[in-house]
Amino acid sequence: MQILNANNTNAIWNLNGTELPDSVMDSAVAGFVLRNLHQKDLETYEHSERVSKYALVIGRALGLLPEELERLRLAGLLHDIGKIAVNLAILSKPKKLEHHEMATVRNHTELGQEFLLSVPGLERYAQVARSHHERWDGKGYPDGLRDQDISLSARIVALADAFDVMTQGRVYSQRKTPCDIANALIAERGRHFDPCVVDALLEVWREGLIPGIEALRSSVEG
Ligand SMILES: [Fe+2]
Ligand SMILES: [Fe+2]
Repeated sequence: MQILNANNTNAIWNLNGTELPDSVMDSAVAGFVLRNLHQKDLETYEHSERVSKYALVIGRALGLLPEELERLRLAGLLHDIGKIAVNLAILSKPKKLEHHEMATVRNHTELGQEFLLSVPGLERYAQVARSHHERWDGKGYPDGLRDQDISLSARIVALADAFDVMTQGRVYSQRKTPCDIANALIAERGRHFDPCVVDALLEVWREGLIPGIEALRSSVEG
């Protein structure tokens, strides 16, 4: 799936021999890659944009540094890039997936990692693409990693990802109410998700800081 190499990215973005900051380079290369996702699968592209925004506000609440936040933003945008290589008919199938179809969908984690490792400048985002479906309790995929063996970025993107599925709904799952989402997050705190990351999300949600999402009223929890 190689579409860029170090020479042509330098030729495009380093016209006067002046080095651009890493974040600008990454952002430009990511934009190029994401245009392919936008063309192939608009739903996944829009999902990735929301996940990136949610990850960013969670990262801010956790006190990440500006450079870490910029990397988290791009990791959120690129986390599902492996879906470019998955048949759209399977991704949008409105019924329960067959076993082999589920395996194909799950493989987007490894495909995403492989793809990002092949694009100069985006290698650092490959690990989140691979690990964003790991779970805090070790029951996730593809590696069954648990708690802090999963990077903080992947733990944040995992929660942002699930939050978007719950708030938007999917062909295979209905949109949930804020009350149900808050209760689901609390129930999965320390199981599916890192407890600290759940706490950070609930905090920014209560404060009304999540883009496009109404503030969580404290009365809907518990
Ligand atoms: Fe995913
Ligand atoms: Fe996702």
